[in-house]
Amino acid sequence: MTINWQQLFAERTARMQASDIREILKVIAQPDIISLAGGLPAPELFPVDHFRRAFEWVWETNGQAALQYSITEGYPPLRQFLAARMARTFGIRTTAEEILITNGSQQGLDLLGKIFLDPGDKVALERPSYLGAIQAFDQYQAEYAIVPMDEDGMQTEALEELLQRETRVKLIYAVPNFQNPSGRTMSLERRQHLVRLSAKFGVPVVEDDPYGELRYEGEPLPSLKSLDTAGSVIYLGTFSKILAPGFRLGWVVASGAAYEQLVLAKQPTDLQTATASQMAFYEVCKDGFVDQHVERIKEVYGERRLTMLRAMQTYFPEGVRWSNAQGGLFFWVMLPEHIDARELLVDAIKEKVAFVAGQAFHADGSGRNTMRLNFSNATPEKLEEAIKRLGRTIERRVGVTNVVRG
Ligand SMILES: Cc1ncc(COP(=O)(O)O)c(C=O)c1O
Repeated sequence: MTINWQQLFAERTARMQASDIREILKVIAQPDIISLAGGLPAPELFPVDHFRRAFEWVWETNGQAALQYSITEGYPPLRQFLAARMARTFGIRTTAEEILITNGSQQGLDLLGKIFLDPGDKVALERPSYLGAIQAFDQYQAEYAIVPMDEDGMQTEALEELLQRETRVKLIYAVPNFQNPSGRTMSLERRQHLVRLSAKFGVPVVEDDPYGELRYEGEPLPSLKSLDTAGSVIYLGTFSKILAPGFRLGWVVASGAAYEQLVLAKQPTDLQTATASQMAFYEVCKDGFVDQHVERIKEVYGERRLTMLRAMQTYFPEGVRWSNAQGGLFFWVMLPEHIDARELLVDAIKEKVAFVAGQAFHADGSGRNTMRLNFSNATPEKLEEAIKRLGRTIERRVGVTNVVRG
């Protein structure tokens, strides 16, 4: 008898779909394409030598422990280092005992879905929001309570109305700094309001912060976690954008019962994050290297951001708008209403440029005329060329003459 696999799969698999981003990563593997698609760091900045030396140190000094199973919570010296660094960098008061090391912050999102969401429970999230979070929550058959955004981030007044009306909101998910995909940053007033709402309604906020350190303009704003006096903010951090994503190392900051439940949820998933890589990351970080490295990344990405901004001002036709991304890795572009970014992408790939169409970041299926452009991965010369080609492609779709703007 042949097996009917589809019939056997659990209900929760129904919404598991290939993401636009992972699909596009296949297209951009072609060497002549300039990709503005992934959220990929610049590979030439990866501190390969530091990792080589760190692993040598691990093998020479601690090889047996590095190859052994270890505790689910994570390597204690790395957790102590992170607690001290978060206090210094983000004003977050925490301890190693509140930090759980994960396989990237993506695993943190999955574990949060696992411990909080029953089918039909709601997650309040920004429109647009991070695709990987939507995918993680989709697995647990979540529904979404969509909160609109503007240039000051999530509109917390709309969230308040929503929390008054909706009874099944279990989590509020927010990316307050240089959000993926929109590049937007939440204002201080809204951060304070959001933290107050979380405490008032008893709904935890998940603060996902992979880009917080990558600010190229303007003044830093306090993290939600640092404003949290009620203990209702769960913070997700990651090494992916400040050191390297390949090892898949991130962390969750949570306290009390939430922390304990996360540890219990991680055990059946993978028992623990790899011992050797946690030790090597600690070795790379412990003497202040990561701070210098972040400064170097900011210099390089800051320049790329400016190159992209100037190129968009020069080559994009009238009627195309973009967010004011003061940091992070992305510009968010709003095309004239009648343009479908997925159709534009087909044309763009013929011109050897790739980006991600914005619809995938909208849990309600809206955002057809939006697209996300990454500026961290390609060199300034390639970025300029890519925007030039994209400008031509948009112009053809818009059917208007290019007006070169200053
Ligand atoms: C907002 C956001 N959260 C989480 C992640 C996943 O990061 P990690 O590599 O730590 O799993 C990303 C990656 O791009 C992201 O943009």
